[in-house]
This record gives sequence, structure tokens and C-alpha cells, in this order.
Amino acid sequence: MGYEVKNEQLRKWVEEVAALCEPDAIHWCDGSDEEYDNLCNLLVKSGTFRKLNEAKRPNSYLAWSDPSDVARVEDRTFICSLSKQDAGPTNNWMPPKEMKETLHKLFKGCMKGRTMYIIPFSMGPLGSNIAKIGVEISDSPYVAVNMRIMTRMGKAVLDVLGDGEFVPCLHSVGAPLQPGQKDVIWPCNKEKYIVHFPEERSIWSFGSGYGGNALLGKKCLALRIASKIAKDEGWLAEHMLILGIESPKGEKTYLGAAFPSACGKTNLAMLVPPASFKESGWKISTVGDDIAWIKPGPDGQLYAINPEAGFFGVAPGTNVKTNPNAMASCSRNTIFTNVALTPDGDVWWEGMSDEPPAELTDWQGNAWTPGCGRNAAHPNSRFTAPAGQCPSIDPEWENPKGVPIKAFVFGGRRNNVIPLVYQAFNWSYGVYLAATMGSETTAAAVGKVGNVRRDPFAMLPFCGYHMADYFNHWLQVGRTNPNPPRIFSVNWFRKDANGKFLWPGYGENMRVLKWIVDRANGRGSSTESPLGWMPRYEDLDWTGLDNVTREQYSELTSIDRDVWKEEVLSHEELFVKMYDRLPKEFLHIRELILSSLWRSPEHWEQIGEVNPEGWNE
Ligand code: GTP
Ligand code: SPV
Ligand code: MN
Repeated sequence: MGYEVKNEQLRKWVEEVAALCEPDAIHWCDGSDEEYDNLCNLLVKSGTFRKLNEAKRPNSYLAWSDPSDVARVEDRTFICSLSKQDAGPTNNWMPPKEMKETLHKLFKGCMKGRTMYIIPFSMGPLGSNIAKIGVEISDSPYVAVNMRIMTRMGKAVLDVLGDGEFVPCLHSVGAPLQPGQKDVIWPCNKEKYIVHFPEERSIWSFGSGYGGNALLGKKCLALRIASKIAKDEGWLAEHMLILGIESPKGEKTYLGAAFPSACGKTNLAMLVPPASFKESGWKISTVGDDIAWIKPGPDGQLYAINPEAGFFGVAPGTNVKTNPNAMASCSRNTIFTNVALTPDGDVWWEGMSDEPPAELTDWQGNAWTPGCGRNAAHPNSRFTAPAGQCPSIDPEWENPKGVPIKAFVFGGRRNNVIPLVYQAFNWSYGVYLAATMGSETTAAAVGKVGNVRRDPFAMLPFCGYHMADYFNHWLQVGRTNPNPPRIFSVNWFRKDANGKFLWPGYGENMRVLKWIVDRANGRGSSTESPLGWMPRYEDLDWTGLDNVTREQYSELTSIDRDVWKEEVLSHEELFVKMYDRLPKEFLHIRELILSSLWRSPEHWEQIGEVNPEGWNE
């Protein structure tokens, strides 16, 4: 042990785990630069890491995973609460006792031939009363170095912990080595278990070394376990980015926005405003790109912190135009996983440049040329980069008090049905719209409701308890808060009949954000649509953008009654699953939506509403 550990519970747990997993050695991580460098060198020696060109990508590494271990495994993720009811219909469940027996068998001797790393980490600024401390035990040095970037990690955490409580997070790649057996570059096991015990507040993860399966502070602790703690304690743990918007007058507004995985959180969190907005003095700053912990402050407002210290961002599609801030964030001190390697020792992925390089080594280590028919980078390839390197990082991003939230934004990938933006009439209505949000699973037929996966609050894979209890919890937050944030729905992904995006997206999303900020601060003009308050064409700032016509805007914001009939029916499909605990309010809200959809088109025309032409008889 490199340092003295005072926490008796921790010492005891480490002993137990060592006896169970039988590692060759135990390494207590101190979190120093020296340790990081040593572990990276070790990973280079073992073949897991390749050091990138120091001149092009200083202090950075590339890892290629096993082709079978490239993303979160939702069907192998379990919430093992004491009662099945408490896990709810959207989570996998097994009785905790039975699961523990299964896990004990799997973990027995699973670290043979490997070093067991003890990784103390803090989700949230070190020492903040809002932060939670976890200790991950892992047999993967790849996990240890990624945790160093994604969390505040090391000895300092134990100093803060003292003899306090921590969340035990046990992880193994599940690939013990026999004496003399040569290791592979990405050890893992085809049998995988990502298991949460919410009452006990512990996490066991077996068989995978990738992302959210293995970096247990992220989805496992900061979302699944924390959502349960948040419910018990009266706060919120959400799959949300947090961003700040500063107006030319210096008014700063923060908002939280939830989008399902790979639907644009990182892009929105780091948005670069269009030139005309920049010139007039609008600024965007980033607090977080994936997870928000939100608590009521002493003044009754909700305050949000980003519990993470790094970005685990999707690489493909990221470039100097779509997201220059992300490109700068991963320009150095970064770990890349499953992207392609250039001949000069740098990285490349689809969408990084218009012209692909003439030759590459793809993410599986094979020679690659443009037009060979394969992806050079895996579609879920990622960069692990320190948040502090992001040029747009907000000066308050590590403030333990958090930032005051004025608006919540919810969005998915919907090629039809959902208009560009609207504001919920009130809190409970907003909770309903977030509860019923969805995202197209595959390229669904334009105009047809279908192939939509309901992903309530973008939390379907991350809620650590019964989803309907979660809805009730959100309603309760609104009841106990005198002036809760305003709630908005957005959809950047609507397409025309030819399958082309109707909205330019990316930086241009600023125009929608500006309207949201005005509305959240009690200003801004709009009109009442059947779904909520909506900006008319003239309510958005179009300075410097001339390729969205009035007609296009009308298509982008239209509400089709027949399509919405199907949409509301598909809300029902989700609701019947959780009928036993579904908030009663939801039934009334659904009735209200139906009745406003059935107001006559003439009604809308008379009061000069948007898109009366978007109505079918
Ligand atoms: P996780 O890290 O998986 O939780 O996801 P994320 O929400 O941070 O995903 P990310 O920002 O990496 O999503 C990237 C995907 O969204 C890419 O396919 C982008 O091209 C697409 N995207 C982001 N912003 C926009 C936009 O404004 N318009 C369109 N059409 N696509 C966008
Ligand atoms: C997501 O899938 O929402 C992610 C990536 O943010 S992972 O950490 O792998 O879950
Ligand atoms: Mn995510």
C-alpha cells in the first residue's frame, strides 16, 4: 500500500474482494501524474495502448477494443432491488440473493494473473457536500487511467472520505490468466453482467471493459444509483448536459437538456453561436455534457452540478465545424478508443474531415482505404478528455454550489411528428412531455409513427428504480418548488419528404436557445399551439441565416392531427406497462392534448395561429 488507509470499511472490503478474486497484486491508486504515466506505459507495453504522435497529439493514446465489447450492454444491465416491483417494468431484475450467488461464482478467481487496482473517486468537486464518493476495484489499468480523466481520482479522495461512506464498485474484465498465459490486447468475457443493488448502494460489473459498462462512476453510480438516492432525498440525477447562455447585456441563464445517447448533448453543450450572435455579444459556456445532479438551493431555485471531470464523447461526426470545442478538448492528454490510426500516428474518424486520408489502420487493426466499404472508426468510438481543456468551459463548472437552472429542455431524434420547439404550458404538462419522449431506432419511414423507442427523460437505460415512481418524483419536485424551471421540447432532426433535415442544427440551434432563454426569463413572444407555446416565424432571430424559408419553418413546426393520434396512442403503450404506479395526472394531460388537437382548424385560423395549413380535416 503506497499510503495509509484509515477507512476500516474500505480496508475490509478490499481484503474480501482480494480473497474472492485472487489477484496477483494490489495497487492503490494515488491519482498522481507519475502514476498515470506509468500505467499508460504499462498499457503501451501490453499492446492495449498505442502512443500517438507527440507533435500532433501530445500525451495521448489510442486503444482498440475487442469487436464484441464496443458499447453499453442494456440487456445485461440489472437493477437488483429487493422487490421486483421497485425495479419496475423497464429494468432487468433478479432477486439480489440469487444474483449475488451468480456473481460470486463468476468473480471467484477472476483476477488471477492480474493486478487489482483500488480506484477512489469523487463524483462532483472534491469535498463538496453535493459530491458522492465511490471506490472502484478493477483489474483493468485502462479503467484506472480513464477514471483519472473522468472523475476526481486518487489519494485526496480518501483524505476527504475519512471514515465516511462510499459506494463500492467492483469491476472485472472476467479474463483470469493462467501462469505463463499471454494476455490479449483487450481482455473481456462474452458473459457480461452490469448489476446494481440500489438498497445496498453497490455495483458489480463483470465481463466488459468498455465505457459505461466499466467506468462505474458514470452511468452506474452517477445515474442508476444516484437516481435512487435522489428520489429518497428529494433531488434529481439526470442524463443531461448543462450549459450557460450569456446575453449581450450580461444576463446569464443556465439550462439542463436531456437527449438520448448519441443525440447531440456534447454538441449542444459546446455550441458555437452563429457569427451574427457572436458579434452582438452572445456567449455559450459548458458546465457538463452528459450528467447533471440537480438540487434545490436555499433560495428555492434548482442548482445543477456536473458530477464528472471529463468528457467521454462520441468521435464520429465531430469536426472543427460541427464542434470545434470538442476538437480542442481532445487535442492533447486524451485517450481515444476504437478510432482509426493515421500513418503519421494521429487519429481519424468518419466525419472528421471532408476528404478521408488516403490510407489508415482501422479500429480493428486492418489496412483501410477510402471506399473499401468498412468504417475506419467504430460508430460508437469515443474520446476521453479532461473537461478543463474545453475552451467553452464555464468559469462556474466546479462551483460546489452548482449553477441555477432556469429551463429544462428535452429532445430526441424524431424525423417527423415533433415540432422544432415548444414550451410546456406548465410543470406537470412538461413532465408528461418528457415522460413520453422518444427517439427513432432506425431510419423510420418519413411521416409514419413507428420504430420509435420511448425513452422517458432520456433515462430509460439509466433509471435505478420504477420509471413511474420517477415520473411521480418529478411531479413532486414541481409541487415543492415555488418557481420551477420552464420545460421545453426540441427536435433538431425533423426531415422533409425527401429525407433531408429541415433544420440546419448545430450552431444554428442558438436561435432556438435564444427564444428559450427569453421564455424562461418571462419574456419573448409566442403563440398557443395545441401542444404548448410556440415561436411564430417572426418570433425567432433569423439574422445571418437565409436558408430557412417561412414555408420550411411551417413544415418544421406543423402539428399533424392524424399523426398525433397515433403518437398519443403510442404514449399509451408505454403507460399501460407501468399502470400500477402511473401518475393520475398523466391521464388528464393526455385528455387535454386530445381535446386541443380536436379544436377546429378554423379556430386556429381565426386567432392567427401557426400552421393552420398543417391541419388535416
Ligand atoms: P452520449 O455521450 O452517448 O450520451 O451522447 P450525446 O448526446 O453526447 O451525443 P453526441 O453529442 O455525441 O451526438 C452526436 C450525434 O448527434 C452525431 O451523429 C451528430 O451528427 C448528431 N447531432 C448533434 N447535433 C446535431 C444537430 O443539431 N442536428 C443534427 N441533425 N444532428 C446533430
Ligand atoms: C451513453 O451511452 O449515454 C454514454 C456513453 O454517455 S457510456 O458512458 O458508455 O454509457
Ligand atoms: Mn450519455
